[in-house]
Amino acid sequence: MHTYQDILTSKKSGSGFDPDLIRETFPILKATVHGKKLVYLDNAATTQKPESVIKALDDYYRHLNSNIHRGVHALSEKATEAYEGVRDKARQFINAASNKEIIFLRGTTEGINLVAGSFGRSNVGQGDEVLITGLEHHSNIVPWQMLCNHTGSVLKVAPIDDKGEVILSEFERLIGPKTRIVAIAHVSNALGTVNPVKRMVAIAHAHGIPVLLDGAQAVPHFRIDVRDLDCDFYAFSAHKMYGPTGIGILYGKQSILEAMPPYQGGGDMIRSVTFEKTIFNDLPHKFEAGTPNIADTIGFGAAFDFLNGLDWNAVSHYEHELLTYASEVIGAIPGVRIVGTASDKAGVVSFVMDDVHPHDIGTILDREGIAVRTGHHCAQPVMQRFGIPATVRASFALYNTKEEIDELVRGIYAVKKVFH
Ligand code: ALA
Repeated sequence: MHTYQDILTSKKSGSGFDPDLIRETFPILKATVHGKKLVYLDNAATTQKPESVIKALDDYYRHLNSNIHRGVHALSEKATEAYEGVRDKARQFINAASNKEIIFLRGTTEGINLVAGSFGRSNVGQGDEVLITGLEHHSNIVPWQMLCNHTGSVLKVAPIDDKGEVILSEFERLIGPKTRIVAIAHVSNALGTVNPVKRMVAIAHAHGIPVLLDGAQAVPHFRIDVRDLDCDFYAFSAHKMYGPTGIGILYGKQSILEAMPPYQGGGDMIRSVTFEKTIFNDLPHKFEAGTPNIADTIGFGAAFDFLNGLDWNAVSHYEHELLTYASEVIGAIPGVRIVGTASDKAGVVSFVMDDVHPHDIGTILDREGIAVRTGHHCAQPVMQRFGIPATVRASFALYNTKEEIDELVRGIYAVKKVFH
């Protein structure tokens, strides 16, 4: 078994990145499914976890378990230090200006709900508008719809073209005097389109409108710099970037978060409580009511360490090669059509096949040990835009290999044999 240190110092690939060594730190990748070697291509749904993340969770419960921000005893102090240390790692990871801008919560979905519930209900009123794009998954549609229903505001949608790219002229046209917030996926989960978010933020800001970016599918693939993007909010989940489920981050610019009311009430988010009045705590605790998910936050810290240890130029280069290869070989299969052909894509190849339902494809691939997601990918409007009920989605992580893509291609030919 190679250690993580071996990976950091590996020269095998010549580029500072060796997928074979990386794979060895992910125990589940050695699994078999239906007697076949697991080929895990469902990374946009959730990534697998390296040994270091699993160990961090185990260590926490064995040696550190205690509630935080409350106890004067040694364990509580150590757990608090570990938990707050992860906030520091998160701040550095996305280049936020202050730890006050890092809110821990369950994940991207809760981050967007927080912004819709707190910022939205205080700033969006009757007749106002919220602008999203035609690429969004349900997490970046439904919270805004709920806000619109509650306030009598209107949801506007910037359309996408046949390649799966947002039509920027339409996006800009839809920003008007009534727009109060814009919410955009950084990377589409269903198609893999990378939105030109820096440009879109600049367009919205030129009209004085704040922007939330849904970074769930971006954080595993590129380094994020929230100050460079200049977004007002950025939401993401640990489990899509090699960390545990049930924990994620909402970044918000301090001045905006300061002005927002709390989203949930409870312990830890208060400074003092009487039956008459509550004084709320400072940022970031104002938005972290109740005992948080301490263990998974600490596991998230190990995921940051894992990612920080990689050569990101090499990772990006490798992932780009994988995606290009997958698009070429899958797109070349007769009767298969790739859905989503944007010029800038990350991590995803979605496809349909003549006369075979994606669910049947997924079931046959599963018998071959190949895990893909089939269905609407929690993005039904994207499917409606392309006039299809569903796709098969292969989504890639840095531990995937060209050999696994070849396995997928063999699997697709096996499907063709069954159905034709
Ligand atoms: N949003 C996740 C996906 O794309 C669950 O699969």
